[in-house]
Parts: sequence; structure tokens; C-alpha cells
Amino acid sequence: MSHLSDDVLARARELLALYPHPRSALIPICHLAQEQDGWLRPEAIAEIAELVGLTPAEVVGTATFYDMLHTEPVGRYLVSICTNIACMLRGAYDLLEHAEQRLGVRPGGTTEDGLFTLEDAECVADCGRAPCLQVNHRFFGNVTPEAFDQLVDDLATGRLDDEVPPHGTLIRVRREVGLRADPQEISEERRAMAERQAADGGGA
Ligand code: FES
Repeated sequence: MSHLSDDVLARARELLALYPHPRSALIPICHLAQEQDGWLRPEAIAEIAELVGLTPAEVVGTATFYDMLHTEPVGRYLVSICTNIACMLRGAYDLLEHAEQRLGVRPGGTTEDGLFTLEDAECVADCGRAPCLQVNHRFFGNVTPEAFDQLVDDLATGRLDDEVPPHGTLIRVRREVGLRADPQEISEERRAMAERQAADGGGA
């Protein structure tokens, strides 16, 4: 029985159809699996490897290279506080210290209730609103310690459920436009390309 849900598998197949080489869909499919479980479970990694034609070790090798992919469990909300230069100059380390005290964990840690994982992040590209942070890749700027406490309360009580989905969901692997293609059309294009390459002497 598949670990990845039917919905995830269907979207994964759509993503696979977009690329000439299945392995090119590896990262977006990892994000899909992460959306399902919150992190890349070993059983998900095994299925992803099969889908894209790699070994599980190769999938892990790629996943561990990217900060946004997690091969260890993370909380329902991943709080990434930027401590890069613009945010640092506007109190990011004070904010991080406050967050550590409020959540009772150090960067990299997860609260006992599994709700929050705290992370010390590099620039998240929202420098104009420093100090800033992301929660599951949603941006929050000009964050004071008081605003942080309010944010944590709002997340814990579900008041931000419409804005911040659980786990590290990325909109772009789910969006309804831009990344979709007809798998039949793609496979015909691939067959035509293979035939052209064969006629040209192997396509080397
Ligand atoms: S330095 Fe914090 S978002 Fe760029």
C-alpha cells in the first residue's frame, strides 16, 4: 500500500509529466510529500525515489542539501526567524532570544506539544520589513516581541488557519495555473523527440 496519498500521487504524476527527465521533478515532489507528513518520512522517500528513478540515498542527498526540505520531524508550525544583516540591525537576535524563551526551545528544537519548531534563518527576502520571520513560508514583518507573542497565540488557537496552513506547504507545487500540463501531450512530445534523436544517430 502506498504511503503517499492518491491525491499526492496524482499531482506527482502531473509534475513528472512536465519534465523530460523524471528526476527533474524531485524537489517539487519532495515538497508534496512534505505537505502530507510535515517532513520527508523514510517511506515517502522510498516512494519518491521509485517515482523519479533514483535511489532513496540520492533523494536524501538532495533533500538534506536544501533548508526547506526536512528529513527529521518538524512541528506543525515552522517558525523561521531571519537573523541576517538587515534583520540583525533591527533586533533579530533580541527577537530570537525572546522566541526561545516564549517557546522554551533553542533553534532547531520543537515544542513538546509538537506545535512549533524554531529556526534561525538566513535572509528570507523581506528585508524592508525587518525584523521578520516566516511561519511555514508565510511572511510576517516588523515583528516585535509583543507581536511575536500574539502570533504564537493566534497560531496555537487556530485564528490564523486560513493564512498559515499546517506544515511547510508551498503554494507553487499546488497552484492551479502555470505548472499543469496534459500528460498525454507531454508523452507524445517525448516520443517525437526520441524519434528525432534516433534519426539523428542516437541524440548524443
Ligand atoms: S535580512 Fe532579514 S529578510 Fe533579509
